[in-house]
Amino acid sequence: MAVVEDGRRVRANVIHSQVDLHRGFGGVVPELAARDHLERLPRILDLALEQAGARPSDLSLIAATRGPGLVGCLLVGTGMAEGLSAAWGIPLTGVNHLWGHIYAAMLAPPDLEPPLLGLVVSGAHSDLVRMPAHGQFEVIGRTRDDAAGEAFDKAARMLGLGYPGGPAMDRLARSGDARRQPLPRPSLEGLEYSFSGLKTALLYRLRDLGEPDDQTRADLAAAFEVSVVESLLEKLDRALDAEPCREVVVCGGVAANTLLRKRAQEVVGDRARLTMPPLELCTDNAAMIAAAGFFGGVHPATADPSLGWDG
Ligand code: KG4
Ligand code: ZN
Repeated sequence: MAVVEDGRRVRANVIHSQVDLHRGFGGVVPELAARDHLERLPRILDLALEQAGARPSDLSLIAATRGPGLVGCLLVGTGMAEGLSAAWGIPLTGVNHLWGHIYAAMLAPPDLEPPLLGLVVSGAHSDLVRMPAHGQFEVIGRTRDDAAGEAFDKAARMLGLGYPGGPAMDRLARSGDARRQPLPRPSLEGLEYSFSGLKTALLYRLRDLGEPDDQTRADLAAAFEVSVVESLLEKLDRALDAEPCREVVVCGGVAANTLLRKRAQEVVGDRARLTMPPLELCTDNAAMIAAAGFFGGVHPATADPSLGWDG
C-alpha cells in the first residue's frame, strides 16, 4: 500500500514481504499468498496513511493492480480497492502490473517522461517495450520461454540456494569468477530472448561436476548471471541502435541485480539517459501502481490474471 503525490512523490510505500511465508515450500503458494493479503491489507492501509500523514479525504484516486498476477491476490486487492472507493467516494482505476514497473522509474528523476525504451525484467516477464506516450506500450521483444527472474530462480534451486532465488544468486555470484565455469550466452536473432538452453547447460554442468565445492558453485552463479545479463543487454543495445531514444528505463525485480545495474549503464553509455528505479522500487511495490494509475488513464479495476501489455 502506498500514497503517492502527483504521480511522482512517494509519501508512503509500505511493503509486507511474504518471503518467510513461502520459503518452506520453495516457491509461492497461491492460496497462502491470497489469504495473507486478505489478513494484512487493512493494517497495511492504516500504516500507509499514517506514514503519509494523510486522511482518506486527502486522496483523489485509488489505483489497484488488475493483472497480470495470481488471481486470488488480484481479487483481494481489487475487491478491497472497490470497497474503499465506494466507502470514501473516491474514483478507482485498474493498473497493468507491467506498466507499473515502468512507472517505478518515474518516481526517481522528477523530469522523466516518455518517449522511452523500456526493459522490464521480472519473475514472469522479460520484455523490451517502446513507450511513445503515457499509457501507450508496444512490445518489441519478449522471451520465448523462461523470464529472466524465473531463470535465476530455477538456477538458484539447482545450486541449492532455495527461495527467493534471484537475490541469493546475486550474493553468491559476487564471490565467483565466471571465467572458471563459462556457460553459453543465449543469442537469438532479432529482439527475442530464450533462457531454457542456458538452464539446461547449467543442469548438465552440475551433473558432470558431481558435488561441486563452494567456490565452484559461486563460479557457476557468476557465469549464469553474466549470460543472462549480457543476453538482456545485447537486445537492449540492438533496439537502441535501431531506433534511438533519449530515455531508457530498466526495471522489474531483476533490475535489482548488481551486475545488470552496472553493465546497463556501460551498454547504454551516452546514447541515452538510463533510469533504473532504486532497489526497493524494482521489486513489486504499490508506489509504482499509484504512479501508473495517476499517469496511465482509466481502466476498470476488475481482476484479470491474463492481462497482457495492452490490457
Ligand atoms: O517484479 P518482481 O518483484 O515480481 C514479479 O512481478 O515477478 O520480480 C521478482 C523476480 C524474482 O524472479 C526474483 O528472483 C528476481 O526478480 N530478483 C532478482 C534479484 N532480486 C529479485 N534477480 C536477480 N538478482 C537480484 N538481485
Ligand atoms: Zn513485478
